[in-house]
Amino acid sequence: MSNNIDLLIKNGKIATASDFYQADIAIKNGVISQIGVIDSQAKKIIDAEKNIITPGGVDGHCHLDQPTDDNSVFADDFESGSKSAAFGGTTTIIPFALQPKGGSIKVAIDEYHRKADGKSYVDYAFHMILTDPSDEILKNELPDLIRNGYSHFKIYMTYESLKLNDMEILKVLSFARDNGAMTMIHAENDDCITMLTKLLLESGKIKPKYHAVSRPIIMEDEATYSAISMSELIDVPILIVHVSSERAMIQIQKAQSKGLNVYAETCPQYLFLTANDLDSEDFEGSKYICSPPPRTVRDQEKIWLGLKTGVFQVFSSDHAPFRFEGNRGKQIGGSETKFCSVPNGVPGIETRMPLLMSKGVFEERIDIQKFVSITSTNPSKIYGLYPRKGTIAPGSDADIVIWNTKNKFNLSNSMLHHNVDYTPYEGLELNAWPQTVISRGELIVESGNLVTETPQGIFLKSDLPEPAKTINKKSLLDRLEKNTFEK
Ligand code: URP
Ligand code: ZN
Ligand code: ZN
Repeated sequence: MSNNIDLLIKNGKIATASDFYQADIAIKNGVISQIGVIDSQAKKIIDAEKNIITPGGVDGHCHLDQPTDDNSVFADDFESGSKSAAFGGTTTIIPFALQPKGGSIKVAIDEYHRKADGKSYVDYAFHMILTDPSDEILKNELPDLIRNGYSHFKIYMTYESLKLNDMEILKVLSFARDNGAMTMIHAENDDCITMLTKLLLESGKIKPKYHAVSRPIIMEDEATYSAISMSELIDVPILIVHVSSERAMIQIQKAQSKGLNVYAETCPQYLFLTANDLDSEDFEGSKYICSPPPRTVRDQEKIWLGLKTGVFQVFSSDHAPFRFEGNRGKQIGGSETKFCSVPNGVPGIETRMPLLMSKGVFEERIDIQKFVSITSTNPSKIYGLYPRKGTIAPGSDADIVIWNTKNKFNLSNSMLHHNVDYTPYEGLELNAWPQTVISRGELIVESGNLVTETPQGIFLKSDLPEPAKTINKKSLLDRLEKNTFEK
């Protein structure tokens, strides 16, 4: 028997961002060594029985074991969060190392490595969250980090403890342009949200549903346009995260059609939830509090269209897990917690891919190639992990999902592996779930069971993202002067 192949997957229907075809996959030393009709022997053979095979998912936006400033606790650490990701077909996660205001981002990254080391069942890279882009950080910390595996960061236009003002945003965007980094932007206008929150509280409106009233579409629209305008001025690519509304999407579409490098992400909560989910007499509505909030059925339909037509490059979970019960999650101030004090976020690291496969691919809203590109290939490219991650091709890591799409079932939180006591999608009828999940050639999930004894995930250094390479080296003032006067 030839031992040249460690694992041979026979008779699968392989989906990539561009193709869908039947072939066998040979794996050697954790890497895909051959694709085609393969009759060789192997140490292990899996018959995929004509099931769909996709690359393992790359979740380009999830929060695990992140520090908070309100005594709340993220319910998932790297152990439970990565296990949940694996069961849902995601084999690479990119959570966030958070710079405390006034603190070092390098120290935050070291700390985050300690939280992740030896605990992750899937491979991981880190985004950074920049809360304090001081000259010291931009000159003495970030350039080295960007070149050594941390090439992307998120900035916030909202949340008191995280937000940057326009001057700081311009500084960060200029830095990103000079260094080839990718800036992710949370776009909501904070002053307007603060004003509306004050008005609501003064009127005694404290229920969870007022979260959606306090963060209206108008202010997501305005902040998205503002972020795009600043990126146009500085001439640097940006990625607008968790887009929830048609209006914000139209701003992005307009920018893209002008030729600007504006990328966009959306998430399951904007396809499957609406603001009405927050509107309950009891405190149940707090389970759906996230920012931006879920919107309307019309917004859902437009976001689906944006996925189909390519406005969105990335479909992430924005897994931000807080438990409903207990006093460190949604009920941090008891069952009457005011909407503005409820920890923001919904869980979804495990359900991201099955929801989109069932409701997107099988209900014919998107094709399977689009599914692969937005759940895996594009985030891998944008965050500097491609072609190691995000595709099924010779030389790529053997991160592979074999799907079971034969049986209908109703989703229930009891099926899931996160450490959260609810799923926002309880009862939803699905028909697709990962049956076998392989990470770097090793089986991690088989027929609904974890089959790896210890977490084997490794840290992935991110290359500089391709789209951020600056071609036009002309200075800002030269460019502005040229554009101001007619020749
Ligand atoms: O509500 C959300 N999205 N919480 C997570 C933090 C963020 O802004 O992504
Ligand atoms: Zn955000
Ligand atoms: Zn987030």
